[in-house]
Amino acid sequence: MTTNTQAQLGADNNTKVLEVCKVCGKAVKMELYVLGRSKTVNCKCECDEQKRKREEQERRKQEFEHERSLNKKYSLMDNKARSAVFENLTVTEENKKYIMAAENYCRQWELNKRENNGLLFYGKTGRGKTTIACCIANRLLDTGVSVKAMSVIDMLQRIRDSFNSYGTDGETELKGEIKRADLLILDDIGAEHKTDWSAALVYEIIDARYRSGKPTIITTNLTISALRDHLTDNNGVARAYDRLVEILSLVEFKGTNYRQAISEEKNYNFFEGVKE
Ligand SMILES: Nc1ncnc2c1ncn2[C@@H]1O[C@H](COP(=O)(O)OP(=O)(O)OP(=O)(O)O)[C@@H](O)[C@H]1O
Ligand SMILES: [Mg+2]
Ligand SMILES: [Zn+2]
Repeated sequence: MTTNTQAQLGADNNTKVLEVCKVCGKAVKMELYVLGRSKTVNCKCECDEQKRKREEQERRKQEFEHERSLNKKYSLMDNKARSAVFENLTVTEENKKYIMAAENYCRQWELNKRENNGLLFYGKTGRGKTTIACCIANRLLDTGVSVKAMSVIDMLQRIRDSFNSYGTDGETELKGEIKRADLLILDDIGAEHKTDWSAALVYEIIDARYRSGKPTIITTNLTISALRDHLTDNNGVARAYDRLVEILSLVEFKGTNYRQAISEEKNYNFFEGVKE
């Protein structure tokens, strides 16, 4: 290193640059002469700070990816539910308002979460309620939101199983996960065989979500008044229903029965080319 370079690097008669940063060229190790003694000091350049920031960013990104894959893994969704994505839906004049509103619900997730905006999809069978609810689940799971989605029948079965396998602790743990998820989707409420046990459990979950202010999306093919009856307890009090109407926007799914349309298309293919 020439004297000139030493001077350029900020060295003088009492200092000597021992090492420079390979990236920015600034001095990172100096020798100081104080009262006839020499001392080596390390100094930092901005590259250190930048490197630390990059590593921190990378660590956060990995944590997010990890969290996201765990959320997906433990979403409790079955394979059909996992495969429902907005990108694969057939958009028609009839269904596009549901699809657009559902995508909008995802875009406004932070607001919906803050204000506990849930949804009640109701309507006759085969109108796409489950499909759209699952598209919302998958879109939000992709952005790192913790979502649990399952049918009420499945939820009751899982809770029963967890009790049978792991006792009260197992049951409490699973119920806790369902209660704590950022978003809970309970599909097909009203399809379950109602017993005192199932009614109490459904109430417990709805009440916990209501009290903690966490959004829930519910689908049903019951009419609103039949749903109210379904959620009315033996004493004639509609406690669970009253909580739901306070936090859910009611969305009626009308239009074509997809299942019938799919089955007609299949029948056509089946007989195609057959001569009588
Ligand atoms: N937009 C869509 N494009 C293509 N297929 C669809 C669409 N919506 C629903 N389907 C298909 O139609 C069938 C019925 O839809 P889905 O199960 O969502 O109806 P549902 O309203 O939940 O019915 P149910 O009340 O009986 O539970 C499914 O096989 C689904 O994959
Ligand atoms: Mg359904
Ligand atoms: Zn540097």
